[in-house]
Amino acid sequence: MKKNYVVLGGLAALAGITTICSCGQPGTEEEEKNLKIGISVYDQYDTFVTEMVSSFQNYAKEKEKDWGISIELEVKNANNNQISQNDQMDDFIQDGADIVCINLVDRTDASGIIEKAKSNDIPVIFFNRELVKEDLERWDKLYYVGADAFQSGKMQGDILVEECKKNFSVIDKNKDGILQYVMLEGEPGHNDSMVRSMAVINEITERGYLVEKLSDEIANWNRDQAANKMKQFLEAYGDKIEVVMANNDDMALGAIDTLKDFGMDITDENWPVILGVDGTAVGLHAVEKGEMLGTVLNDFKGQACGMLELAYSIKMEKPLSEEFELEDGKYIRLPYKSVTKKNLGEIQMELME
Ligand code: BGC
Repeated sequence: MKKNYVVLGGLAALAGITTICSCGQPGTEEEEKNLKIGISVYDQYDTFVTEMVSSFQNYAKEKEKDWGISIELEVKNANNNQISQNDQMDDFIQDGADIVCINLVDRTDASGIIEKAKSNDIPVIFFNRELVKEDLERWDKLYYVGADAFQSGKMQGDILVEECKKNFSVIDKNKDGILQYVMLEGEPGHNDSMVRSMAVINEITERGYLVEKLSDEIANWNRDQAANKMKQFLEAYGDKIEVVMANNDDMALGAIDTLKDFGMDITDENWPVILGVDGTAVGLHAVEKGEMLGTVLNDFKGQACGMLELAYSIKMEKPLSEEFELEDGKYIRLPYKSVTKKNLGEIQMELME
């Protein structure tokens, strides 16, 4: 009897390792009906990743019934340490995982995980933190599930452009015909932060609007860090800031926290346009309240479902569900969706399904 596997332990599993048992014996028919998945997240306090893992756990519960199998999940927190994550890979191997899902701490340092996977013949589905193609090509049982970061930056830009078409004179507070902005960026070297920061500006300028960067700062996807950076921006530029572009919702929310600390609310004429990415529950709530103009849904539910379907098809040697496309035999990418007040209700309904 294996002791380390959580049977669908719920989100609480992210906080530590819960124990349960798995009763399948290797090679038996029972074993064939058992799917063991080890998941390691880079940081259990990341809002987006937590929502994604929580969706994964919910899908697993549903799919157990649909597929008539038992699914065992073990979720581990790498706590921002690649060496710990490599050790967790050893634990998953020892515990007899069929598939391992890895949210890399360091996307440029996947070799430890890949070598262990190859030598033990355990397929790996990397997710959310995209590794370079060359690494993914090092073995045919390596996969990636995520989204096309370029699309999210472009959509973020599009939300601003559409608003400018209607309300440019309100957004352009100093009436100089230029959008003065500050940018809150995710981790340096993370594909999504680099690509989003570039794509959002491209979109706005290609569509004919002039921009002036007042400042940009790295806030590592984190709400508190973003709140601190926003404080610095406000102290340096005050009401010159017309637009706050954040690479994710948590950082947009950090900026909002600081604006409120400075005594402002959305009725204030100096409240800037604020844009995020992710469509987390808290992010969507800020759109609903009008604090954020919009966000871009990073389809965590679709990604979670794609990851589970892929794990199932690998273990059972069945074709992947037609809902998903496996590009180049390796990639599942789910489309992003723009969210503003206009389609918020629709998106919230979709997420509840
Ligand atoms: C999300 C961020 C998240 C990051 C973690 C990004 O795709 O937009 O919210 O913090 O992934 O890797």
